Amino acid sequence: MTHDFDSLGLANFSCRLDDERVAWLTLDCPGSAVNRLSADVMHELGLALDYFDQTRPAGVVIQSGKEAGFIAGANIDEFAGLDTPAKGMELVSRGWTLFNRLAKVDYPTLALIRGHCLGGGLELALACRYRLVVDQAGTSLSLPEVMLGIFPGWGGMQRLPRLIGAPAALDMMLSGKPQDARKAARLGLADGLVAPRLAEQAAKAMVLGGKPRRRAKGLPAWLNSPLARPLVVRQTTRKLDGRDPYRHYLAPRAILQIWAKHDGNALKAPQLVDQLIRSDTARNLLRVFRLQERLKAFGKAGRQQPHARHVHVIGAGVMGGDIAAWCALKGFTVTLQDQDRERIAAAQGRAHTLFARKTRHPRDARAAADRLTPDLRGDGVRHADFVIEAITENADIKRGLYAQIEPLMKPGAILATNTSSLSLEELRMGLDRPERFIGIHFFNPVAKMPLVEVVETDGVGAAVKTATYAFVDAIGKLPLPVQSTPGFLVNAVLAPYMLEAMRCVDEGIPPETLDAAMLKFGMPMGPIELIDTVGLDIARDAGRQLSDQASMPACLEHHLARNELGRKSGQGFYRWKDGKAVKQEAGAIPPDLAARLITPLIDKTRQQLEQGVVADADLADAGVIFGTGFAPFRGGPLHYSCTDPLDTQSTS
Ligand code: NAI
Repeated sequence: MTHDFDSLGLANFSCRLDDERVAWLTLDCPGSAVNRLSADVMHELGLALDYFDQTRPAGVVIQSGKEAGFIAGANIDEFAGLDTPAKGMELVSRGWTLFNRLAKVDYPTLALIRGHCLGGGLELALACRYRLVVDQAGTSLSLPEVMLGIFPGWGGMQRLPRLIGAPAALDMMLSGKPQDARKAARLGLADGLVAPRLAEQAAKAMVLGGKPRRRAKGLPAWLNSPLARPLVVRQTTRKLDGRDPYRHYLAPRAILQIWAKHDGNALKAPQLVDQLIRSDTARNLLRVFRLQERLKAFGKAGRQQPHARHVHVIGAGVMGGDIAAWCALKGFTVTLQDQDRERIAAAQGRAHTLFARKTRHPRDARAAADRLTPDLRGDGVRHADFVIEAITENADIKRGLYAQIEPLMKPGAILATNTSSLSLEELRMGLDRPERFIGIHFFNPVAKMPLVEVVETDGVGAAVKTATYAFVDAIGKLPLPVQSTPGFLVNAVLAPYMLEAMRCVDEGIPPETLDAAMLKFGMPMGPIELIDTVGLDIARDAGRQLSDQASMPACLEHHLARNELGRKSGQGFYRWKDGKAVKQEAGAIPPDLAARLITPLIDKTRQQLEQGVVADADLADAGVIFGTGFAPFRGGPLHYSCTDPLDTQSTS
């Protein structure tokens, strides 16, 4: 019996049958900006397939009703409830079975992908006979499960290597790296690339076109054969060992194993699946993902309002130059002012390198460069929605500048300082309109560091706060609200950590051993290399300002006396060659060393929380993770200190 699709009463899907009997199945999850493959959605997809079994369409095009994209993956809230092995397997089996069914239908199917297509969303698309990607800026295909400490268990580990060959598929699955529309087409991940206005027409032609399903050919295909897999496993394991020598992350190795031994079928490796899904690492990475979403949400309130377009940056040094470049890259009109013409020229040079590295086409890089205007006289102040001050760290000089520029600024414009150590209450003295003065503290290097501390003081206008969070969100950074206290959150917690490391050097522990201890703990860089990178002079100033201890470590004094400032001078605790620290072999790591070094950081995080620098423990953890790279798989310093005894046995 054939019935109307609407009579199925589905909440998430609608379907239209056109004149040539192509069914256009649209996923549009109600009450959400994006589509997610929740248990409900998966159930309804099954019902839609039942319907097509009966109605026998000439083809099915699966598309999204959302502006933002195709499908943003599974519903991760459902992962939290996976407290028994059976529940974990049930979740894997649900997607595996349903997508196998989709892959086997005898009518042609096509996923029309516009915008993001992530995780389970890409696995659904891989189960279709064809994939057509829309050539627009936001189109992005990825299997990011590995970043949550899990695996693409709904067929991705099997279908992706068959489609694009083992090397490219493993690269995507083990890194979680996204592919844009063009790259997806080049890899063969998509069968075609189409301009937005021709998408429907092209989808219809493709789904009715009768072309056989695409498969990898040649060497990439051979490397997916059972014969070649042991070789690929050996090579890939070597790469993983290089990237993760202390084996903090199990997921990449598990994905490799499930692919090699079970042809990507996770149901054949129940123990491994259970170990992964219920591991602390997966739980903590999920926590980090949620923390990230929470920071992003601060920008949400201002998203609907007319947002800033023109940013005027004053100070074209290390920070100001890079902030200006980053804002131009993200689409803002930027004017860059400095009293020194050469600093502006140098900043423009760095900006061009950034644009070339981060854009898809030379024309996009040129457009970004066109948006960044050198402005020696500071004419841009009059037109800017945001004026960011990033000049020399000196309160008198900064206040002198504000006195000159404030009368020139547009009525609704915001004045933001990038100061890392001065009090905002002190800086705003003398301003006519202190309520529009706020801190936006970027981290160095600007292009790499995801966090921006938004420094609020009493009396900052609500609209100013909303617009500032929206601005930080619009440039793709994670805003963290902090109160105006010395060092805010991140620098305040790093100072005692770096100080403790230098005290260890004074006691005779080699820098290499200290760095190795913290890499083993899971930090992205050891504390001594970090001091060399930040600069020993800056570490000294931060130490003076942020530590209660009067005396400087002797090792720091020794290097400073010789003008050895770290990376920037070519010599600090290490000698620096071609931008890399030259290190000797690390010695044996004393069992309590990591705990000794990390304890001052954790204690200081707790103190900052108690003093109200951040509003709650989750925000403190988020700030330290995204501002310092604190071992994400440990879930943040406070979370770690509550769940884990400070014992280095657990760091291996
Ligand atoms: P920098 O010394 O590299 O650059 C400062 C620039 O400001 C110089 O190019 C100088 O010519 C210019 N300048 C000074 N007075 C000026 C004026 N009245 N008008 C126009 N230009 C003027 O300094 P950096 O490191 O970029 O720091 C800038 C600010 O950013 C400081 O407040 C610092 O605390 C903060 N910051 C620095 C970080 C770092 O890692 N270097 C990290 C986060 C914040």
